[in-house]
Amino acid sequence: MTSLWLDGAGMRHPQIDGGATKDALNAEIVVVGAGITGLVAAVLLARAGKRVLVVEARTPGAVTTGNTTAKVSLLQGSRLSTIAKRHSADLVGQYVEGNREGQAWLAQYCTERGIALQYEDAYSYAQFERGLPTARAEFEAAEAAGLGVSWVDQLDVPFEFRGGVRLADQIQFDPMPFLGALISELHERGGRLMTGQRVYAASTAGGRVSLKLRDAEGGEQVATADHCILATGTPILDRGGFFARLHPSRSYCVAFEVPGSLPRPMMLSVDQPTRSVRYAPTADGERLIVGGGGHTVGRKDSARTSYDELVGWTKRHFPGAQPTHFWSAQDYVPVDELPYVGPLLPGSDQFLVATGFAKWGMTNGVAAALLLAKHLLGGQQARWASAFASWSPHELTGLTTALKINMEVGWHMAAGWVTPVAHRNGQLRDGGGSVSGPPWHMVARSMVDGVERCVSPVCTHLGGVLSWNDAEKSWDCPLHGSRFGPDGTVLEGPATRDLSR
Ligand SMILES: Cc1cc2nc3c(=O)[nH]c(=O)nc-3n(C[C@H](O)[C@H](O)[C@H](O)COP(=O)(O)OP(=O)(O)OC[C@H]3O[C@@H](n4cnc5c(N)ncnc54)[C@H](O)[C@@H]3O)c2cc1C
Ligand code: FES
Repeated sequence: MTSLWLDGAGMRHPQIDGGATKDALNAEIVVVGAGITGLVAAVLLARAGKRVLVVEARTPGAVTTGNTTAKVSLLQGSRLSTIAKRHSADLVGQYVEGNREGQAWLAQYCTERGIALQYEDAYSYAQFERGLPTARAEFEAAEAAGLGVSWVDQLDVPFEFRGGVRLADQIQFDPMPFLGALISELHERGGRLMTGQRVYAASTAGGRVSLKLRDAEGGEQVATADHCILATGTPILDRGGFFARLHPSRSYCVAFEVPGSLPRPMMLSVDQPTRSVRYAPTADGERLIVGGGGHTVGRKDSARTSYDELVGWTKRHFPGAQPTHFWSAQDYVPVDELPYVGPLLPGSDQFLVATGFAKWGMTNGVAAALLLAKHLLGGQQARWASAFASWSPHELTGLTTALKINMEVGWHMAAGWVTPVAHRNGQLRDGGGSVSGPPWHMVARSMVDGVERCVSPVCTHLGGVLSWNDAEKSWDCPLHGSRFGPDGTVLEGPATRDLSR
C-alpha cells in the first residue's frame, strides 16, 4: 500500500544520510521526526545558525506526511465550527491566523523553489439534507473568523452535493518534493538527517537532553542536545500524558485513473460517510484522489472494507475509474480541538511537542514549526500562539471529551484482555491475523504472503491488546494508536519498542 506521493518519491528527493558522525550526534537541537513539522522546524533553526540533528525512525514522510491528501487549506471540513463550539471567537481567529501563516510560509517556500502548487477552490459541503446544518454552521464560523467564504447551493460535480461553503484560491500539492527541498536546505545549512534511527528512551542530565537511538539491526547510539523537539505525530514520551489528550484517527485514500476531465475544486463533506475529493497531476496524467472511512485506530473489524467502500462510491460516480494507489494514515485529534505546540511539561523547554493537527497538518504543522523555532530562538511570540499552547486553561473545555475518550480506552483495555480466549484455534487465511489464548499466554498470529508469524499481542506502550488491520497487515492498538508490523516491528504511535516475538 504505497501512496501516490511516496510512489517514486525516492527519485525526487535528495540523498539522505543513513548515519551520522559523533560530532553530528552532539547537537544544539535534536528534532525527532522527519515529517512536515520536524523538517520545517529543523530548517528554521538551521537558518538561525543552530546545529540541528533530525532523527527519523523510518524515512522522511513515511508516516503521515507522505500519506496525506495534501490540501493546504484554511477551510477545513467542519473544523472551525467544531472549535467555535468550545472556544471564544478570539481563539478561533488565532487558529485561523496561525494556519494562514503556515499556508503562506509553505506557498512562498514552494514558489521560490519551483515546487508545483495548484490553486483551487475549497469546499466544505453537505452531501445530504441532514448535513446542511453543519455546513451552514461552518459557513458562519468561517465568516466570523474573517475568511472570504461564500455559500453555494449547486455545484457541477458528479456526486451528491446539497450545498456548501466555498473558499477560493486554496492550495493542493504533492508533499514529497516539499520535504525533499527542506532536506536539501537543511544539508546546505550544516544540519544533519539520520534515517532508520528510532528514539526509544530519553533523559536529561547536566542541562542536556540525551536520546537513545536504535536502528533496525539493533545498533545503538546516543544523541545529545540542549533541546529536543518531538515532531513524532503523537509525542513518544509519556511525560505530559499527551496520549490521553489525543484521539488517534485513521483514514483511507484511493487514487484513480479516470477517463475524461476531473472536478477542479478540493471537496470535503461535513456529513457521513466522509468524502474527500481532489485531483492530482502526475507524470502519467491526472489522478482523482478520494478519501474517507475514518475510524479510531485499532477499532474497526475490517479496515479493508473502507477501501471497498471508496472504490464502490468512485466507480458509481466516475464511470470507468480504475484504482492505481491505495493508502491509509492516521492523525491525532486533541480533546479540546486545538493543537498542542510547546513544552512537553509546563515550565521546561528541554522537550517540546507539536501534535493534535486533526488531519490538517499541512498548515498546522508549519504553524507549529514557526512557533517552536520562535520559542527556541527567542523574540516576540506570534499573536496567535495561545490557540496552539500545549498547556493552557482553555483545554479544560475538553475535559468531558477527555473523560469519554479515556473511559473508552479503559473499556478496550479490559475487553482486549478478556475476549481473546473465545477465538482460540481459529484457522488463519492469508492476509489474516488473530489473537488467541488465555490472558496469561496470549499470542498474536498472522499470515502474510504465506509467512506465518507469532508475536506478543501486548502493546509495548501501556499494555493494550492489539487487533489485526487487514488493510495494512499490521497489529494496531485500540488504546492510543501504536501500530506494529506482522513481525512485531514498531511502525508508529507512542510506542517505541517492538513487540516481543
Ligand atoms: C488520511 C489523511 C489525510 C490527510 N489530509 C490532509 C490534508 O489534506 N491537509 C492537511 O493539512 N492535513 C492532512 N492530514 C494531516 C497531515 O497529513 C498531518 O497532520 C501531518 O502530515 C503531520 O505531520 P507531522 O510531521 O507532524 O507527522 P508525521 O508526518 O507523522 O511525521 C512524524 C515522523 O516522526 C517519526 N517518528 C515517530 N516516532 C519516532 C521515534 N521514536 N524516533 C524517531 N522518529 C520517530 C515518524 O517515523 C514520522 O516520520 C491528513 C491526515 C491523514 C491521516
Ligand atoms: S498505544 Fe498506548 S497502550 Fe497501545
